[in-house]
Amino acid sequence: MQQIINKPDTILSVSNLSKTYRSRDGDVKALTDLSLDIERGEIIGILGPNGAGKTTAVKLIMGFIKPSQGRIIFNQEELKAAESRPRFGYLPESFRPNPNLTVDEYIKMQYNLARASTIRLSRSETAAKISALLSQVGMAPFAKRRISRLSKGMGQRIGIAQAIAGNPELMILDEPTSGLDPIGKSEVIDLLLALKREGKTILFCSHILAEVERLCDRIGIIIGGNLRFLGKVDDFLVKHQVDNLDEGFKKEVKCAIS
Ligand SMILES: Nc1ncnc2c1ncn2[C@@H]1O[C@H](COP(=O)(O)OP(=O)(O)O)[C@@H](O)[C@H]1O
Ligand SMILES: [Mg+2]
Repeated sequence: MQQIINKPDTILSVSNLSKTYRSRDGDVKALTDLSLDIERGEIIGILGPNGAGKTTAVKLIMGFIKPSQGRIIFNQEELKAAESRPRFGYLPESFRPNPNLTVDEYIKMQYNLARASTIRLSRSETAAKISALLSQVGMAPFAKRRISRLSKGMGQRIGIAQAIAGNPELMILDEPTSGLDPIGKSEVIDLLLALKREGKTILFCSHILAEVERLCDRIGIIIGGNLRFLGKVDDFLVKHQVDNLDEGFKKEVKCAIS
């Protein structure tokens, strides 16, 4: 394992990460030279239109795919190119748990998977952990409900519960609020804010702008595989001389294509 000296508050450091997908129809340059540091305890939102390269960035960070170039350092340790990251909590873009399980059956399964390598707990200790996890995401009253009968918003909360099941230091969430109605969205955002108060570090991506102002310490804006901006929302507004993120985003897209 190669040791690398990082700033102590940096939990994840991504440098010059690039990905070109090679297919029979030609190459797709999905991500170009992404560099960013995530500080411990912050929420960082990666924003960009569909096809911008957000999920590619997430899959690279998660080790599901191999970068064409670049490296990823987590807590001073360089991560192998395409190897799973058991210490990261992850919510995929299309999260589809087994619809036939009840909420508590599913979370118990995920909890056991996340905790596979640690000390065995008794049945009652495990039950207490599952119940605490469900309470944390506001799903305790629905423990016995079948997944197939949950609303989309409840489904996402279960998705977040499975992502925190292993008590990860870093959570990577791909479009955690997409497809939710305004109430569902707001509930998920409140939940992420509560996790931040508990000290969790969260990177999430989204193509929906409005929600992130309340949530993010910093935003990264990706367009066409390029990180166009990284910093505080207020600084982005100043950059474009606008008073809301939507306007600034439109201007950024215009700059990117001109
Ligand atoms: N497996 C793949 N093979 C070829 N092209 C891909 C693959 N996955 C994604 N892409 C392309 O890479 C670009 C970025 O996609 P993606 O990372 O999913 O963007 P986003 O999550 O921002 O919508 C898009 O042009 C997409 O079509
Ligand atoms: Mg995506």
